[in-house]
Amino acid sequence: MSRKITVIPGDGIGPDIVKSALAILEKAGCEFDYEFVDAGLTALEKTGELLPQATLDAIAKNGVTLKGPLTTPVGEGFTSINVSLRKRFGLYANLRPVKSFKGTQARYDNIDIITVRENTEGMYSGLGQKVSEDGSEAEAMSKITRAGAERIVRFAYDLARREGRKKVTAVHKANILKSTSGLFLKVAREIADEYPDIESAEMIVDAACMRLVMNPEDFDVLVTTNLFGDILSDLCAGLVGGLGMAPGANIGKDCAIFEAVHGSAPDIAGKNLANPSSVILAAVQMLEYLEMPEPAEKITRALAEVIESGDRTTRDLGGSHGTTDFTDAIIERL
Ligand code: NAI
Ligand code: MG
Repeated sequence: MSRKITVIPGDGIGPDIVKSALAILEKAGCEFDYEFVDAGLTALEKTGELLPQATLDAIAKNGVTLKGPLTTPVGEGFTSINVSLRKRFGLYANLRPVKSFKGTQARYDNIDIITVRENTEGMYSGLGQKVSEDGSEAEAMSKITRAGAERIVRFAYDLARREGRKKVTAVHKANILKSTSGLFLKVAREIADEYPDIESAEMIVDAACMRLVMNPEDFDVLVTTNLFGDILSDLCAGLVGGLGMAPGANIGKDCAIFEAVHGSAPDIAGKNLANPSSVILAAVQMLEYLEMPEPAEKITRALAEVIESGDRTTRDLGGSHGTTDFTDAIIERL
């Protein structure tokens, strides 16, 4: 029996780019049994709920989910669906790799960086959100736990070891955020000692931003807290040609959700303009997670060839074609 995978097509450009990724998986010979469910605006319109119970059940039951971007409606009472999913399923590690592909509009051609972002704590824990009655003051709480920091730093080192990477850099702001970032850095140093085979470095987040732009080749694996990881991983996406090239995996103990880093891009939705590479690369991450390296490599190679040759690429890649032409070009190469 083929493996069952939950698919959330998502909102905005989501359904088109997910369709592209599924066609490419099929052409690469991956025989999965897909269970399609809704979340986000699409689900709200159909069921009155952003995250229907049937969707939560499917994610839990199948363990592996491929997900398009979801629109969180702006306004009272709507917490981010992505944050809810990460918390609910304990998806503590957010893995955001960026790699240079020849032929993009990027400034560099030698980037290979993985950001490992803690996905459930820190500034995004949602704790202590308060605005004073007159609207003149607002506050929120950041919480770091030793267990949470240990778990994510170990995850980063284990990943480095598994993938034969050389260096892990812990990114922090312990000089100012002495309690929270201080605890994270203390734990990162302790764990670093357990991995003498991997080079360990640490860097203050603002300096890391500058160094990433000036000398990105100095970085290998980054491990950091939630807010810094969110920002740094977008910066890294910019190094390789933008959000259209950036996938992300949300990984927990017995559940994983693979997605694009970007949102539902309402400005280009329904226009056949979106670059599907981010979700295609998320599908590649999914194949690696499922220990299916062969189709993962095949798809990455076909994508790289299409981008390098400029054959039917999308506008953000310097081409003039749409999502469907670009997908066809990859499928032909497969
Ligand atoms: P966005 O990431 O959707 O778009 C930012 C810019 O990048 C836009 O100009 C868009 O056209 C462009 N872009 C994004 N993906 C692209 C692609 N594949 N190909 C070509 N161009 C692409 O961010 P925005 O506009 O701030 O958010 C829109 C909605 O997405 C919001 O409702 C937000 O809540 C949601 N969102 C969802 C995420 C998720 O589901 N993981 C993550 C981020 C935002
Ligand atoms: Mg973000």
